[in-house]
Amino acid sequence: MKTFEELIETKRDGGSHSAEDIDRLVLGYTEGEMPDYQMAAWLMAAYLKGLGPDETVWLTDAMVRSGRVIDLSGISGVKLDKHSTGGVADTTTLIVAPLVASCGVAVAKMSGRGLGHTGGTLDKLEAIPGMQVELPAARFVQQVKDIGIAVIAQSPDIDPADKKLYALRDSTATVPSVPLIVGSIMSKKIAGGADAILLDVKAGTGAFMKTHDQARHLASELVRVGDVLGKRVSCVTSDMNQPLGMAVGNALEVAEAIRALQGEGSKMLSDFCLGISAKMLVLGEVVSDEDDGLHIAERAISTGAALERFERWVMAQGGDPKVAENPSLLPRATYSREVLTSEKGYVTAMDAEGIGRAAMLLGAGRATKDDTVDPGAGLVLHVRIGDELALGDIVATAYSSSESLLAAGEERLRSSVSIGKARVEPPPLFYEV
Ligand code: URA
Ligand code: CA
Repeated sequence: MKTFEELIETKRDGGSHSAEDIDRLVLGYTEGEMPDYQMAAWLMAAYLKGLGPDETVWLTDAMVRSGRVIDLSGISGVKLDKHSTGGVADTTTLIVAPLVASCGVAVAKMSGRGLGHTGGTLDKLEAIPGMQVELPAARFVQQVKDIGIAVIAQSPDIDPADKKLYALRDSTATVPSVPLIVGSIMSKKIAGGADAILLDVKAGTGAFMKTHDQARHLASELVRVGDVLGKRVSCVTSDMNQPLGMAVGNALEVAEAIRALQGEGSKMLSDFCLGISAKMLVLGEVVSDEDDGLHIAERAISTGAALERFERWVMAQGGDPKVAENPSLLPRATYSREVLTSEKGYVTAMDAEGIGRAAMLLGAGRATKDDTVDPGAGLVLHVRIGDELALGDIVATAYSSSESLLAAGEERLRSSVSIGKARVEPPPLFYEV
């Protein structure tokens, strides 16, 4: 058996590992036999020299085996999971999960918390009074069986390798490596137990992947590794050059999701969610093509079935289902301020990352994992790329529970929205499937 030092040397010199080598690294590190400093060196070698196609599959598989795997085989039909690589104002899960569940596809999702400028689904759910996300795996499985939907925090015994590796990557500048990202995302999804997974890889200023080419490469690797490991994976690449929805911040995003489920959301977010739902309905084998999927998804909104499933989901996890009829029951920030334009012209760019950071400055996000979030804080945007602005038009409304944070949030927002003389075309919603 090779020593850890020999394994680091192999990767440093651009060599390849066997499946046994990868197991030794991943399991040895998870169990504490391999210290952080050696894994940090291996991660940097892997970041610089890359991993081959087989090595990426073996890495993913070893990470899955580092912990337990949820067994959803007792539930009939296709069990679906959905994952986005992270964006700003990305409220999609709160809309599409109850929507497709109401159409007969079970949604079983374990999710993470927000860190940095992107919001986390768990933080958004916890903005609903009473809503529990830290639930045991047995209850997760039972809830999927009973009402066709559960979204909870990933339990600590699932993919412990990723928890340790991600924390180390985060502090050693080794996050943006395609094979390491693929291992991290796919191992968590596979351990979550779903049969099929819809992945949404974001590209743009507000995303990990800044260009569409990078996003496409990551997407094709995610699909390939899922396929080799026996999961049906469908992947879209979508735009993150501006926030997806109009609300950024936990309770504000829940309110926006409820409006979309009521059929009254912003067109861009609603169209995006209908598109994602149609793909999920195809993956879930409810329909054979996306046109039929779109039709059924639209009907789930217009009949109220999607909103009704949202209520059942909230109630099942201890939340107040009355928020579905009355979003004003959600926590609200004490202070607000309208941000007005000081120039006229057209919105030419919206830096999604900067806007996410503005919401963080208002209290909506956490800079370290132990920070608490202000559920009512954030921004509601009034404009999108391509909109025309007259002097004094409202760009956004900022919300915070602390009056002193409003100025910093406003300043960051202003520097994230560019106004120019000529109209630019808005970016597309989706790049490709
Ligand atoms: N998301 C993950 O879960 N892991 C990564 O490595 C990157 C994004
Ligand atoms: Ca407008």
